[in-house]
Amino acid sequence: MSKILPGESPGQDVWTACNEGSRPRNWGLLATGLLGGSLVVLYSIAAPFITPALRKHCLPFVPATPKQIDNVLSVLKGRSGSLVDIGSGDGRIVIAAAKVGFKAVGYELNPWLVWYSRYHAWKAGVHHNAKFYISDLWKVSFSQYTNVVIFGVPQMMLQLEDKLGEELQPEAKVVACRFPFPHWKPSHSVGEGIDTVWGYHSESFRRKDD
Ligand SMILES: C[S@@+](CC[C@H](N)C(=O)[O-])C[C@H]1O[C@@H](n2cnc3c(N)ncnc32)[C@H](O)[C@@H]1O
Repeated sequence: MSKILPGESPGQDVWTACNEGSRPRNWGLLATGLLGGSLVVLYSIAAPFITPALRKHCLPFVPATPKQIDNVLSVLKGRSGSLVDIGSGDGRIVIAAAKVGFKAVGYELNPWLVWYSRYHAWKAGVHHNAKFYISDLWKVSFSQYTNVVIFGVPQMMLQLEDKLGEELQPEAKVVACRFPFPHWKPSHSVGEGIDTVWGYHSESFRRKDD
């Protein structure tokens, strides 16, 4: 039995004993909370990068190389107006296009990449001409754009060919990076290997019944 010292109340040692006993439990709760919180944060950061790979068309984030961007701009040389990058990643193509005078827009599923792109555009001083939207490319109409850029994957190009063929105006030009469209005939191509880009005029993508 513990001795009660002068100046201590009988309940004090009970309180101290309880408190000491619960300390490890508090640390355990704190550690569990921290671990759980970290996992939630990690998941919310990683999930937008992983989920594109689990969709019907696996289209992961692979940024365009500087050479690829040069090639896109060279295929679009002499053109102006609106431009869209379908699946805009970290915004590098949209920002490069805005720098040479296009009114450029990017549609991207991953919100982190969209926020990063907006920040990057603001830092580059082109945020008035470089806009980014968190959207699924299959749910957006690209009919208003006269310059269309896609760095996709082979599995999606057939479906995208149909979609763009239905939506785009006769004055539009399409640029495919790294993977060409399966049926359209390119008017020209620039670069080689993984940096190759193909340019398509409306004669190749307009539907015969238009
Ligand atoms: C190959 S990367 C190209 C990135 C950028 N265009 C570039 O050239 O640097 C394809 C991008 O499309 C995005 N993406 C995948 N599925 C998408 C979808 N359904 N709608 C919009 N963006 C999508 C990915 O998150 C990824 O950032």
